[in-house]
Amino acid sequence: MEPPGSAGRPPVLVTRRLPQEALDRVQASCEMTLYEGDGAMRRDRLLAEVAGKAGAITLVADRVDDEFLDAAGAQLKIVVNYAVGFDNIDVDACTRHGVLASNTPEVLTETTADTAFALMMAAARRIAEGDRLLRAQTPWIWGPLMMLGQDIHHKTLGIIGFGRIGQALARRGLGFGMRVLYHDVHRPPAEVEREFGAQYRDLDDLLRESDFVSLHTNLTEQTRHLINAEHLAIMKPTAVLVNTSRGPVIDEAALAAALRENRIFAAGLDVFEHEPIVHPDLLTCENAVIVPHLGSATVQTRLDMANLAVDNLFAGIEGRRPPTLLNPGLWDQRESQDPFRAIGLRCGTLGIAPGGIGGCA
Ligand code: DGY
Repeated sequence: MEPPGSAGRPPVLVTRRLPQEALDRVQASCEMTLYEGDGAMRRDRLLAEVAGKAGAITLVADRVDDEFLDAAGAQLKIVVNYAVGFDNIDVDACTRHGVLASNTPEVLTETTADTAFALMMAAARRIAEGDRLLRAQTPWIWGPLMMLGQDIHHKTLGIIGFGRIGQALARRGLGFGMRVLYHDVHRPPAEVEREFGAQYRDLDDLLRESDFVSLHTNLTEQTRHLINAEHLAIMKPTAVLVNTSRGPVIDEAALAAALRENRIFAAGLDVFEHEPIVHPDLLTCENAVIVPHLGSATVQTRLDMANLAVDNLFAGIEGRRPPTLLNPGLWDQRESQDPFRAIGLRCGTLGIAPGGIGGCA
C-alpha cells in the first residue's frame, strides 16, 4: 500500500495499465498506485490497495461493492469504471457510501457497433471457419456448394437493447438495406423509430422474425439468461446471434447445444458467461465466431475511454460534477445541501495545477 498522498496530491488507484497519455495525466496530478499485472488484481490485493485512496479507476473484473467501499475508507470520492457496462459496480452501495460512480459511455459507441457488425458478417459468411480451413492446409477447390453462408444485405436485423450502441448498429444495418426491428424495456421517442425505420417487437416476435439478433442490453437480474433454450428454439434455423453486451445475457450451455445441433445457423460472441473462460462446447462449434471481448478495442477508442475516465476521476476528486455520472442523484442531493454552490463560491479544493485536474465547474 502507498502512503497517503503528499503535497496535496490525492492518492488514486488505477487497477490496470491504460493508454500512457491518460496515465501521464493521472501521474502529473495525483499519487498514482498502478497495478501493472496482466490480469485482474486479486481481491485481497484490490481491497488493500484501495485503502486510503481518494479515487479509483476500475475495470469490469473489479467488483465494487460494500466490501470494496468499506476497505477504501470514508475519504473515497469517486470510482470510475473504464467501461460503459457497469454490472461490476453496485451503484446503490456507492450512493450509500457517498461515493460518486461513473463509466465511459458514448466514446465507444461506434467502435462497439463496428464489432457487432463485424461479428454478424464473420458468422454469417463463415469467415473464421474459412480461415481455419486454409490454415489447417485442408485440400479444397472452389465449388458451387462450398461453405455457403447467409446473406446480410436486405435481411431483418433484430436489436435487443435499443440504446446508443443498438442504434449505431441499426445505422449500419440500414446501409446494408436491412429491415430493423428492436426490443427494449424503454420505447424511444417516435422520431428515433422514424430515423431508423425501426419497428418495436416484443421479445418473442423479434426472435421469430429476425435473421440477425444482436444483444445490447445491460446485464441485470432481469437480463441474465434473457436468451435461453426456449428463446433459441423460436429463432429461425438460418438465424445468427451476436453478443457484444455481457456474456451472462445468454445461457451459454443452451447456445452451445443449439449451435451444435444447427438449430440456429451461427453465433458471433465477444463476451462470455464465465469470462475469461469460454464454454468448452463453444470451442468445438465451427459455427461460433468467438473473440476475446474486443468490442471497444481500437487504439483511438481505448484512449478516448481512458481520457474520459481521467476527466471523471479529476472532477470527482476536485468536487466538480463528473461528466458521465452513474449516480447523479447523489450529486444533486449534495448540491442542494451546499450553501456555497448557490452563490457560486465553490471551486476545486485540491490546488491542482491548471491543465491537471481542471478549474471550477
Ligand atoms: C464496456 O465498455 O462495457 C466493454 O464491454 C468493456 O468492458
